[in-house]
Amino acid sequence: MKRTHHCAQLKPADIGATVSLAGWVDTIRDQGGIIFVDLRDREGVTQIQLETRENAALGEQLKHLKPESVIGITGKVVQRPAGTENPSLPTGGIEVNATALEIHNISDTPPFPLDDAGGDKVNEDLRLTYRYLDLRRPKMRKNLMVRHRAAKSIRDYFDAQQFIEVETPALFKSTPEGAREYLVPSRIHPGEFYALSQSPQQFKQILMVAGVEKYFQIARCFRDEDLRSDRQMEFTQVDVEASFVTREDIYALFEGMLKKVWLDVLGTDIPTPFPRMSYDDAMNRYGVDKPDVRFGMELVDFTETFRTSSFKVFQGTVASGGAIKGLNAKGLADLTQGELKNLEDTAKSLGAKGLAFIKVEGGEWKSPIVKFFSDAEKATLTQQLGIAEGDIVFFAAAPWEKACAILGRIRLEAAALLQKRGKLTLRTDDWKFLWVIDFPLMSYDEERGGYAATHHPFTAPVLEDTALLDSDPKKVRGQHYDLVLNGMELGGGSIRIHQPALQKKIFEEVLKIPADVVESRFGYMLKAFTFGAPPHGGIAFGLDRMVALLCGTTSIRDVIAFPKTQKGQDLMAQSPTPVTAKQLKELHIAVVQPE
Ligand code: AMO
Ligand code: AMP
Repeated sequence: MKRTHHCAQLKPADIGATVSLAGWVDTIRDQGGIIFVDLRDREGVTQIQLETRENAALGEQLKHLKPESVIGITGKVVQRPAGTENPSLPTGGIEVNATALEIHNISDTPPFPLDDAGGDKVNEDLRLTYRYLDLRRPKMRKNLMVRHRAAKSIRDYFDAQQFIEVETPALFKSTPEGAREYLVPSRIHPGEFYALSQSPQQFKQILMVAGVEKYFQIARCFRDEDLRSDRQMEFTQVDVEASFVTREDIYALFEGMLKKVWLDVLGTDIPTPFPRMSYDDAMNRYGVDKPDVRFGMELVDFTETFRTSSFKVFQGTVASGGAIKGLNAKGLADLTQGELKNLEDTAKSLGAKGLAFIKVEGGEWKSPIVKFFSDAEKATLTQQLGIAEGDIVFFAAAPWEKACAILGRIRLEAAALLQKRGKLTLRTDDWKFLWVIDFPLMSYDEERGGYAATHHPFTAPVLEDTALLDSDPKKVRGQHYDLVLNGMELGGGSIRIHQPALQKKIFEEVLKIPADVVESRFGYMLKAFTFGAPPHGGIAFGLDRMVALLCGTTSIRDVIAFPKTQKGQDLMAQSPTPVTAKQLKELHIAVVQPE
């Protein structure tokens, strides 16, 4: 029985044709003598009618049939009786009157319902254990399709722009300054290890030295990080590098790519160019370097207002060089004690000493600290925050970056509480793209007592800031850019350093990496740069994150066919697993179990 059509294909124009279909039994309804089967394949569903009244053999066969069994049928396309059409299905005008049935496999009863609503209710671990069933759900099937379309659109785009896809090794060498790496023991070199590539960063720069000029790759990357909804240990980057480009070229290139992907996948024309915001602005206004600008609730700076305040916490913070930031969560004065406590806990987890607030209820400012505020201070707050009945205002007093970050998190949590109350609506298809630029090149790591590259050590400084590298590295801006969509960091990149002397200076004099360590880790790169390195720059983009947003989900596990759990396990194949003593011996490895 060879398939002639798929299950979303037959239309009233096919009435009278003899066809063969194959797929999974979605539902079975026994109407006494007539059995209706909704037959499902990758494309959709077709209703099959099986007459058993005069066909005892068929009836016998059907007795064993259960949902999710795999069958093939041959029959005649007929019009559905008037009143039984289903306009919501592409095949809703017809049904197939089956004359032959072939049962390929009987299915056991699935451990959870395979429709979208039913599957969404079950524990994700169960879905991951039976991922092959989970992937039969329409929503998951659609997600895989969107991923395929997006990847295809990206490849076509870069091809049309004369970029060539080059594969770079997954087995690389250990470069411990990035995220934690996965090590792979070498059998041939006892005691030596490869590291799985965290990103093709170094290879793509070398490809520029090699004269490739325009490179891209849909590349698998590996990072041993704590897993979250937007992070997997193994994920996919759309990785790009080009020679003789400026930041503007990269912005335009990626805006074009995203425009095409959104058109190809969703049919949506997103406006370009995207707005840009400096890192300082993003922190000052949204308290985060990946702001969700679909809603306001912006942070306001009150450092000057409280410089001479009689509230000692604020006054003291300002005196020691810190900042006071405030935000108005409009209409959230009705939050519960528990919700308020959660917000305070969030603030404390980020290092805050407390979370001062003012609630406006019954025309009154209710707050443990309002007694310290002068009339002038109150007037400034009212005016700058637009304080009104039903509002709650939060404050953070801390060093500038920390104060911003604390309120940035409170802003997001307050928005979630407002959404729960129906007082704020954030649409997943409200596409607010944003470039965040002008990051500091270096950040000072208090714990370690030294500078660390904000992104990676290959990023070039902004030209006019280069002189500050010796005097005040903190003030040097990097030629780095992040692409943010609705509060998610989609991608980041930079114009790179292409002069070997400057790169060596960054490693040795700014980052204070000992010369012999620089030589052993990056010597090959510095050497390559001495043979004619073109100016170059690029970007890498989280494909999983982009597809998740295209699919309207925030969990990248929903758009990866076989993701790992939060604990880094594959529940279906059951990895990781112990290995045999023989395997370990061959790899010259001895395992020390934790106490
Ligand atoms: P970066 O480390 O910012 O840059 O990574 C680029 C993008 O990759 C995605 N991403 C992840 N997605 C899922 N799970 C993870 N664990 C994960 N980690 C990162 C994010 C991120 O924005 N080589 C540089 C890029 C460059 O400079 O060209 C790099 O890897 O969407
Ligand atoms: P205290 O005087 O320490 O009892 O604090 C009074 C109020 O200010 C409490 O609601 C604290 O949560 C809050 N608070 C204390 N320190 C800070 C801070 N650094 N930033 C914001 N609020 C604070």
